[in-house]
Amino acid sequence: MASSKAARCVGILTSGGDCPGLNAAIRAVVKPCLSDFHIEVIGIEKGFRGLVENHSRVLHSQDVSGIMATGGTILGTSREKPHRMPLPNGQTVDLTARAVETYNRLGLDCLVCLGGNGTHKVAHSLMKNGLNVLGLPKTIDNDLVETDNTSGHDSAVAVAAEAIDRLHSTAEAHLRVMVIELMGHRAGWLTLAAGLAGGADIILIPEIPYDLESICQHLTERRRRGKWFSIVAVAEGAVSKSPAAPPVPVLKEAKKEKKNDKAEKGGKSKNASVVLRADGMSSGISLDGPEDGRASSLVAKAIQQRLGMDTRVTVLGHLQRGGAPTPFDRILATRFGTHAAELLAEGTYNRMVCLKGTEVTSVSIKKVAGQVKLVPSDDPLIRAARHVGTNFGD
Ligand code: F6P
Repeated sequence: MASSKAARCVGILTSGGDCPGLNAAIRAVVKPCLSDFHIEVIGIEKGFRGLVENHSRVLHSQDVSGIMATGGTILGTSREKPHRMPLPNGQTVDLTARAVETYNRLGLDCLVCLGGNGTHKVAHSLMKNGLNVLGLPKTIDNDLVETDNTSGHDSAVAVAAEAIDRLHSTAEAHLRVMVIELMGHRAGWLTLAAGLAGGADIILIPEIPYDLESICQHLTERRRRGKWFSIVAVAEGAVSKSPAAPPVPVLKEAKKEKKNDKAEKGGKSKNASVVLRADGMSSGISLDGPEDGRASSLVAKAIQQRLGMDTRVTVLGHLQRGGAPTPFDRILATRFGTHAAELLAEGTYNRMVCLKGTEVTSVSIKKVAGQVKLVPSDDPLIRAARHVGTNFGD
């Protein structure tokens, strides 16, 4: 492991989508840096935008006091990347040189980057531009390679599992199919874990393309066994095995309602609420924009139309990213942050702190950049879920 000069002054930023545990991690870097290792820490605000524009402030111990259990990030965040900064005219410009300039002007020995895939890719490219970097993995998606977990994931799973629990009782009371859409465009870790914990009957993730026939068969079998309600957990990136399937026809009445709804909202609505009455008998399906192209809406519509089962959609959205971190995430973030401080003190740079089994260690950032950790088809969580009768739509 390459070791150079011990750090005397470092920058720290949070980048990409926020998640619970960021503040716990910032606190865990800053506290030992100040008190144990005498390293000055400069907080860079709004992610890499702050590095490009030099929005920074020296962090003192009172800045990180009392933030362990708070959601969001005291530094702010953004998805902007120095090599592709957006201009008001919609074009982008490469401002990497400005980011490097800020790093040098602040006299940093290393830039600590808390983030997910995009963040580590940028950190790697800054490393190639001569900066020392350290990465700390955080994302609700848990889709970073070389680490068994990322801070923020457990908290999001807890929120999503609780939401599924809440849907269970109302599903059973009304004998409905409840479709819940969870975050995860490319990787299904969050939906898989929350679906397993919440006892979802069907779990659809991007890694396992689904077949509507299989989903409907599973629901029909459940009905045969007297289970007239079901929970379907769908990752936002779930895809059908036959993506070219023709769009489900929208009934005339529904189209009219949608038009009226759109007109009411000034014609701008993307999420117009439409009531479809597929069989003309049941109470129908109330979707938040059935033509919005959402995986959950498409699946719900198909279930409603093929089986005539009363179906509802819940899109949990950013509720999964807000609020206090779970104790697991607080501990993980604290272990990641304090390990990063130790690396800074010994002058070990260009690595991502990670969890391997129960051990917190680090890997070369090069190994992480540009990679996504997908759910393998034989993952233990998948096997466990299948054993308890969960259908994956395959
Ligand atoms: O990167 C984490 C994540 O929460 C993804 O799961 C989700 O697809 C995306 O961010 C949402 O991004 P935004 O907050 O920019 O809408």
